[in-house]
Amino acid sequence: MSALNGSGLNAGFNPAPLDAAPFSPAPFSAAESAAMQAALAAAAQGPRGANPLVGAVVVGTDGRLLATGYHRGAGTAHAEADAIAQATAAGLDLRGAAIVVTLEPCNHCGRTGPCAQAIIDAGITDVIYAVDDPHDPAAGGALTLRAAGVRVRSELAADAALDLNRRWFDAVAAKRPFVTLHIAQTLDSRIAASDGTSQWISSPESLADNHALRGRIDAILVGTQTVLIDNPRLTARNADGEADGKQPLRAVMGYRGIPDDAAIHGADGNVLHLATRDPSEALDQLFAHGVRHLMVEGGSRILSAFLAAGLVDELIIYLAPTLLGSGTAALEGLGITTLADAQQWEWDPASGGAVQVLGRDLRLHLRPATPATPATPVDPAATSTSSDTTPHRTGADTAAGGN
Ligand SMILES: NC(=O)c1ccc[n+]([C@@H]2O[C@H](COP(=O)([O-])OP(=O)(O)OC[C@H]3O[C@@H](n4cnc5c(N)ncnc54)[C@H](OP(=O)(O)O)[C@@H]3O)[C@@H](O)[C@H]2O)c1
Repeated sequence: MSALNGSGLNAGFNPAPLDAAPFSPAPFSAAESAAMQAALAAAAQGPRGANPLVGAVVVGTDGRLLATGYHRGAGTAHAEADAIAQATAAGLDLRGAAIVVTLEPCNHCGRTGPCAQAIIDAGITDVIYAVDDPHDPAAGGALTLRAAGVRVRSELAADAALDLNRRWFDAVAAKRPFVTLHIAQTLDSRIAASDGTSQWISSPESLADNHALRGRIDAILVGTQTVLIDNPRLTARNADGEADGKQPLRAVMGYRGIPDDAAIHGADGNVLHLATRDPSEALDQLFAHGVRHLMVEGGSRILSAFLAAGLVDELIIYLAPTLLGSGTAALEGLGITTLADAQQWEWDPASGGAVQVLGRDLRLHLRPATPATPATPVDPAATSTSSDTTPHRTGADTAAGGN
């Protein structure tokens, strides 16, 4: 299965080689562990966003891998359904087979139907998953499976599965949207020239990538200043400039109002004015409007506010090979004055890879670094007052804040 061959893009989630040993009762066989590694590698091919990255591998009664699936984003088939569909399309009989999944199979009838029932209907009798689904509407799949007589085990490679979706779990727990922050910048980190021009810093390929992202998010956010200077439409458009079928909610953050004739109103008027300068308050309002995946597009003060608050889960930088030497800096200050407090990020190999070449640009893909483990015992009183929104600084005081 090609999905199993961990590519360079998925470095860090590479599967161990499968053996063909039959499944054994306890706790997990080498074949089961290898299947989970394959499921993790497959999961990493999906896009980050409103839904978690999930992979699934169907394993035959002889321990052989029959099919691999993964989730391609909100509204598409879940990983289990994808793997089962592939096996069924290949004419395989899955009765008595096992399925190894990186997240508890869902139990809800969302846009794609409950995976627990799909597993039961396929005749699969053995389910192994890594971590429970914390998402209220989806949780409970394990109970449904057990009630139907399916053998269910969990906690295999739980740490890796938690790490894969670390920030998604955080967002779900905080009841806020998953936040992707986008910066289109020059080599010297400028997002606009000193005369205010910023269209287009990026290559057509980067713009197309950005519009594809716009097509699958729930909302896009800019500051009032960007609306007043650029008068953007903020729609998802194809290469011919035509609007896609699915459009994100367009949100504007700041105290000033949106001019009546601003292009952002568009034909549908699907615009939300967030009369606040507080990123947490903005996320609360967006969550209440049903937004589960937000892209923050700019400008520099909005980007900086979300980064300073530790409320960015995924960072995408389109880096153009140009220099301006002056103009609007991508970031205008994060409240950091010493290197020990620098925010730490790590290259994200999931969802297309850490680095892609898009035309003449580089697309850099990062996520907040895993919080450092304090070297010395931490004063509980200090941690209880630390915000969970400053997860990736190196200073001893902030490292204790957790993620
Ligand atoms: N290259 C790119 O990817 C890109 C993308 C977008 C924009 N841009 C460029 O960015 C430039 C605009 O950047 P900008 O920084 O001047 O404006 P901005 O970030 O778009 O908007 C700043 C305004 O947002 C409001 N605001 C809301 N929350 C805030 C907070 N926490 N802190 C500060 N202000 C907050 C304030 O207005 P109120 O007084 O209304 O509260 C503030 O004046 C433009 O030149 C635009 O072309 C580039």
